[in-house]
Amino acid sequence: MLETNTIGELRKTIKSEKSRGRTIGFVPTMGYFHEGHLTLMREAKKRTDAVVVSIFVNPTQFGPNEDLDKYPKDLDRDRGMAQATGVDVLFTPSVKEMYPDGYSTYVDLTGITEVLCGKSRPGHFKGVATVVAKLLNIVRPDAAFFGEKDWQQLAVIKRMVIDLNVDVEVVGVPTVREKDGLAMSSRNVYLSPEERSASLVISKSLKIAQNMVDNGERSVDRILEALQGLIGSEELVELDYLEICDPETLSPVSEIRAETLVAIAARLGKTRLIDNALIGPELENTGNLF
Ligand code: PAF
Repeated sequence: MLETNTIGELRKTIKSEKSRGRTIGFVPTMGYFHEGHLTLMREAKKRTDAVVVSIFVNPTQFGPNEDLDKYPKDLDRDRGMAQATGVDVLFTPSVKEMYPDGYSTYVDLTGITEVLCGKSRPGHFKGVATVVAKLLNIVRPDAAFFGEKDWQQLAVIKRMVIDLNVDVEVVGVPTVREKDGLAMSSRNVYLSPEERSASLVISKSLKIAQNMVDNGERSVDRILEALQGLIGSEELVELDYLEICDPETLSPVSEIRAETLVAIAARLGKTRLIDNALIGPELENTGNLF
């Protein structure tokens, strides 16, 4: 596995791969790998010839009171895991390499970035879209892989790629969960044992939403009411948002008629967790949950 922290060397390596007719798969990450990241890498390996993974804790997507400074990091461990998974190139740029002095260009989407996490994390998706646009320009992959746990991020990136005519296939990869249902996230390490146990109400709510649909419920208001009651009964969990919306546009819906997204964000102490699931009349027993 080649490791580089410069855009120049990365581009040279990718050019040489492409000149040999090899397709490029790209997995952008902020490091501190877990099974979710490894699943993205494996999917990239399955679909493309050479896999490039970036590790960059992108400062422009963190708000002033967020966890940029304490975001978990372990490059040695990540390097070992990437190598063992068969990654070809690990790109670990510095902040200066990505945002040199005088940096002035941002990618800012309207609408889709103003709902859900966009409301509680203003500016977050501007940072995400900017860094992903830059990384896609640097790597120029055939396909780029993103986890469905960050559903809104995936929707924003799909929209951006269409709007800016970026020549890449954006692949969404299903959420990887712990055995008890908690969606894997680098931020799970912040949870105390009590918070870890309380966090299960989030994935449980998603499952209950699908159960209600399986039992014939179609009213979004009634599903929201049931889920709010359940989450509200868990003292350590403070709901940021619970929304049921169209999976592509993220606009609210009032009835479950087709595939619909249930999206949840909640704070447990200082940790903010997000999770989501597709629910719908056709999704019974498809295993899209857990
Ligand atoms: O999902 C992440 O880890 C980040 O938001 C991403 C896509 C790597 C951009 O910094």
